[in-house]
Amino acid sequence: MIAAYQARCQARVDAALETLFTPPREDLQRLYQAMRYSVVNGGKRVRPLLAYAACEALGGDPARADGAACAVELIHAYSLVHDDLPAMDDDALRRGQPTTHIAFDEACAILAGDGLQALAFEVLADARLNPQDAGTRLAMVSALARAAGSAGMVGGQAIDLEAVGRRIDQAALETMHRHKTGALIEASVRLGALASGHADAARLEALARYAGAVGLAFQVQDDILDVESDTATLGKTQGKDQAHDKPTYPALLGLDPAKAYALALRDQALAALEGFGDGAEPLRDLARYIVERRN
Ligand code: IPE
Ligand code: IPE
Ligand code: MG
Ligand code: MG
Ligand code: MG
Repeated sequence: MIAAYQARCQARVDAALETLFTPPREDLQRLYQAMRYSVVNGGKRVRPLLAYAACEALGGDPARADGAACAVELIHAYSLVHDDLPAMDDDALRRGQPTTHIAFDEACAILAGDGLQALAFEVLADARLNPQDAGTRLAMVSALARAAGSAGMVGGQAIDLEAVGRRIDQAALETMHRHKTGALIEASVRLGALASGHADAARLEALARYAGAVGLAFQVQDDILDVESDTATLGKTQGKDQAHDKPTYPALLGLDPAKAYALALRDQALAALEGFGDGAEPLRDLARYIVERRN
C-alpha cells in the first residue's frame, strides 16, 4: 500500500521538480546541471510524501500540494549537498552516486545548494506553481523559512557539528535531531495541510504532534541504519557516524533501546491522528514506514 502511494507521489513531485532546472542563460548551464544533479537522483521523497498525505488527510486535492512538495524537497536536497561537504560530514556518496562536490567541485556544490534554497521560496511564492491565495502562500513561505533556517535545520546542523567528539545527554541529542531533521519534516506536514485549503487550528495542532514524533523518529532510524545497514542499500557510506564520532541514539542508548524508542515515537505519531478518519491512512502508513525502512 505504502509502495503504491510512494510511487504515485514520487511521480507527481518528480514531474513538477523536473520543470525547474532550465538555465535562464547559456553561461549558467553548469550551475543548473549541479542543481538538477542534486535533486533528480532517486531520493525517497519522504518530505513530499508527507506534504501530499497531510493535504489528503484534510480532504485536499493532492495537486494543490505540488508546490509544497517541491519546496520541501528542494530545501532537503540543498541540506544534503551542504551536509556532505568536506567542511561538514565530508561524504563522497549520496543516493548511490558521487556527492555534488565530487561530481562537480566544492564551490559549485556550495552555490548549487544556495540556488536550491532560494528556488524553494520562489516556488512557494509563485501563484502558478503554488495555487493558493496570497495569505496562504505567505504562511507557507514563513513556515518553511523558520524550519529551514537558524531556528530549525541550520541551527540543528550547527549543534551537530559542535557536538562531534563530545558526550551529550539524551535531552541535548533530542534537541539536535528535532532541529536538524524534525523541523523540515514538521514543515512538510504543515505546508501540505495549509495547501489543502481546509486547515483549522485544532487539526493543525494534531498534525504538528504527529509530525514532531515522526520527525524525531526519522532521524533515530537514520542513526540506526548508519549502524546496521550497508553502503549499497543506503546509497551513502555506512558507519560514518561512528567514524566521525557523532552523537547518535544507538551510540547513547545502544541499538535495541534506540529501536524501541523509534517504535514508541511511531505510536505517539499514530495516537496524534486518532481523531482523523480514513483520509489519514497514508499519514499512518508513512509513520510505520519511517521506522521500518531499510534505506
Ligand atoms: C537523509 O534523508 C538525511 C536526513 C535528514 C536523515 P533521507 O533519508 O530522506 O534521504 P533521501 O532524500 O532519501 O536521499
Ligand atoms: C543530516 O543528518 C541532517 C541534514 C540536515 C542533512 P545526517 O548527517 O545524519 O544525514 P546523512 O546520514 O548524511 O544522510
Ligand atoms: Mg550531518
Ligand atoms: Mg551526513
Ligand atoms: Mg545520518
